[in-house]
Amino acid sequence: MAQMQSHAELLRLLGHPTRLALLAELAKGPKCVSDMQGMLDVRQANVSQHLAILRRERIVDYHEAGKLRCYYLVRPGLVDALDKFLNGRYPAVRPTAEEVRRAARSRTECSIPGGSHQRGRAGSSRVDRAAAPGMGRADHWNKVYTEKADKDLSWYQGRPTGSLAIMDRLGLSKDAAIIDVGGGGPSALVGTLLKRGFTDISVLDVSSAALERCRKRLAGRAKSVTWLESDVTRFVPPRQYDLWHDRAVFHFLTDSEDREAYVAAISRGLKPGAHAIIATFAPEGPPKCSGLDVVRWGPTALAETLAGGFSLVECLRETHRTPWGKPQAFAYCLFQFSP
Ligand SMILES: C[S@@+](CC[C@H](N)C(=O)[O-])C[C@H]1O[C@@H](n2cnc3c(N)ncnc32)[C@H](O)[C@@H]1O
Repeated sequence: MAQMQSHAELLRLLGHPTRLALLAELAKGPKCVSDMQGMLDVRQANVSQHLAILRRERIVDYHEAGKLRCYYLVRPGLVDALDKFLNGRYPAVRPTAEEVRRAARSRTECSIPGGSHQRGRAGSSRVDRAAAPGMGRADHWNKVYTEKADKDLSWYQGRPTGSLAIMDRLGLSKDAAIIDVGGGGPSALVGTLLKRGFTDISVLDVSSAALERCRKRLAGRAKSVTWLESDVTRFVPPRQYDLWHDRAVFHFLTDSEDREAYVAAISRGLKPGAHAIIATFAPEGPPKCSGLDVVRWGPTALAETLAGGFSLVECLRETHRTPWGKPQAFAYCLFQFSP
């Protein structure tokens, strides 16, 4: 019941026409306060007040550039789901009389024909199919991070050697904007970058438990990181980065539509000339990770999948040892983005 109480509070907070209008505008991309004031025909003080409420709940956040304060969505997945809900994009499906009778007889939950519980429904829309795996992913990873310690996770590494080897060659400035996709949980990358003096780091993860574990480990230093809770396939980057880093996320995208959504996100999220490091299981690596199927990638296939705008700079091989000593072949591919 306590959880329902907090859900009700969230809905109450969202239930204001100005706040909904602000979220709808921000879903199209980051905006400065003065832009939103013009678009919504609302006084600036009013806009700022509503944005402050949304920020307190970590639904939006801002960047300041001189006197300009520009807002962006911290949880684009939440706003996307809200938009679908409000705009009635969930088809209503009526159970047949026989199904209702059967459900009443068995006193079990009513199974809705054509609903998301059904397997292999033909003709479901992209929106419906994307929603289910997105939610399933968060559940899967939250469970993993709730039940397992760092040393029980096959991907755990005390030092992110492969990623650092490539980053060192890039010679990034300390204020470079870096995003680590799937960087929650035990990942040592964000802590290492903070120690090295990088000041503009964002960590995105589909799992709130993964982000929380990472935040806890960093303790006071967590404040200087931007935390983004989102499925990367639904991520609308709030800004453009100098480096996109992904170790062991892309290989979970076994569906070509999800890979296309990933490519759309990375293309939107990189500055022209910026770099991306994508580390996946190599062709001779394991077929599964965390109980999930993966797609194993070599540099050529990965470059073809990223396609237009991404040129392969180099690809390093690394044999990662799981905490229990099993070797796993990884490929760390570096791309440059020139749209
Ligand atoms: C195998 S772990 C790798 C973690 C980290 N990058 C590392 O190297 O230690 C995969 C991470 O990506 C996150 N993840 C999986 N699928 C994702 C998705 N579609 N969008 C965002 N994060 C995802 C998981 O929650 C998990 O933290």
